[in-house]
Amino acid sequence: MVNRDATALDDPVGASLRGHHAHLARRLGRAATYQPGVATFSAVTTDPDPQEWADLARLLGRGELADMFSCAATPPQDWESVFVLEGRQMIWSGDNQPDQPNTEPVTGVVELGADSVPEMLDLVARAQPGPFWPRTHELGTYLGVRDNGTLVAMAGERLRPPGWAEISAVCTAPEARGRGHAARLVSALVTRIAARHERPFLHVAEANTGAIALYERLGFETRKPVTFRGFRTP
Ligand SMILES: CC(C)(COP(=O)(O)OP(=O)(O)OC[C@H]1O[C@@H](n2cnc3c(N)ncnc32)[C@H](O)[C@@H]1OP(=O)(O)O)[C@@H](O)C(=O)NCCC(=O)NCCS
Repeated sequence: MVNRDATALDDPVGASLRGHHAHLARRLGRAATYQPGVATFSAVTTDPDPQEWADLARLLGRGELADMFSCAATPPQDWESVFVLEGRQMIWSGDNQPDQPNTEPVTGVVELGADSVPEMLDLVARAQPGPFWPRTHELGTYLGVRDNGTLVAMAGERLRPPGWAEISAVCTAPEARGRGHAARLVSALVTRIAARHERPFLHVAEANTGAIALYERLGFETRKPVTFRGFRTP
């Protein structure tokens, strides 16, 4: 496991909600989460008191999902555990922070905006890359590949702790796999992120050995294990 100066990656959700994504945050006291439809990632401090959990529950509403992978604190007992999944956080190990970054668009890769949301949701439903909601694309740039007009692959930017950008929603329709779409999309995002003098990182489930192999081939290395944890508010 690699250990670099990457402390902002210890709580990437909290760091994003306080910083680059403050305009997409809901906050109460020291608790924070994203606006509805953007993400269910939620943040509390490292040693939250009962009031902080009460504030987060109020922010989210009754029976709502709180995705708490970013912090180690355990919610009160009346928060129902919805999922626990082992994964890892990977960071891009390339060291090219170029003076004159390559900003050439990658052939066949297009930017996806609000009018592409129905297609993105459809692809996500078929390819299952992980959480993605109607407003998730507001978190960053999303790129896609079309085949005869149909969206067959996508990837985008999600969490943005200072100095870093998370690559997420990497997926290719089952019938279009093995043609290098995911590799091209991830590479295009890496180029964009490096051009801003930020560094790419990502999260992947431990069981997703195909994706881990792909990311390693593209220059990512493991920084630390992560447990994805979801809880339902009382
Ligand atoms: C992982 C995924 C995005 C790869 O998409 P893709 O467009 O087929 O990927 P590429 O064609 O760019 O493949 C790149 C390399 O990874 C390898 N690879 C891709 N999927 C693989 C798998 N499931 N198992 C083993 N190797 C795999 C390919 O063989 C290829 O290697 P090569 O170029 O040396 O032959 C796709 O399988 C997918 O959508 N999976 C479901 C969603 C998902 O898990 N997303 C990742 C979330 S973190």
